[in-house]
Amino acid sequence: MAPRKLVAGNWKMHGVSADLAEIAAIADAAGQYPRVDVALCVPAILIERATRAVPGFAIGGQDVHHAEKGAHTGCTSAEMLLDAGARLTIVGHSERRDAQRESDSEVKAKAEAALSCGLDVILCVGETLEVREQGAAISTVLAQLDGSLPERSASDAPLAIAYEPVWAIGTGKVPTTAEIAEMHAAIRAKLVERYGDGGGAMRILYGGSVKASNAAEIFAVDDVDGALVGGASLKASDFMPIVEAADGA
Ligand code: PGA
Repeated sequence: MAPRKLVAGNWKMHGVSADLAEIAAIADAAGQYPRVDVALCVPAILIERATRAVPGFAIGGQDVHHAEKGAHTGCTSAEMLLDAGARLTIVGHSERRDAQRESDSEVKAKAEAALSCGLDVILCVGETLEVREQGAAISTVLAQLDGSLPERSASDAPLAIAYEPVWAIGTGKVPTTAEIAEMHAAIRAKLVERYGDGGGAMRILYGGSVKASNAAEIFAVDDVDGALVGGASLKASDFMPIVEAADGA
């Protein structure tokens, strides 16, 4: 049986108190789609206010430090996210892999720290345009997974993978459905190789310029179990049609 679809918004560095009303609008509308899991990953500093504004709705972080605590100025631990009310976190987003130079092993340590604290994890992978043009997209993504998948049994793993081609993020460009299908099948095979049956049940999300106009087509692709949505998650009017497409898939 295919897993329930998950549509998660990644608000990136957007969101202040004035935006809590939009979060409330999204949470309220999500109630109309009980067959879809909906979440919003907001800036760490907004998590607690967001969870108070929309109790029961899944609010998440966008990154987590791998250490439990210590001298890590400006960083947020998994326990801190949980304490603020987060249920999940993104790790290994390409904007962090690139700007913060996060390595696969660092992403793996972050995923393990979050999962062991009880947070669901969305672990991102994806290739650059240069890599795709060289014909190395699949081998690159599988190598990222080899380096960044957590060492744990999948049976108790609320772990999802988000395939986000770097060249599709915020650009309006999306891979063809055949390219998405090929990549998601390769990711599925890797998850099964690593975790056995549990890997077959893990969600594989697609991310990168998902919007109302392309969501249904993307959700119809085999092994696409939801989406990680950036720009189109900031407004209920853009985001909810994507959730509706997931509901209809
Ligand atoms: P986008 O971002 O939907 O704005 O392309 C997706 C992401 O970075 O997760």
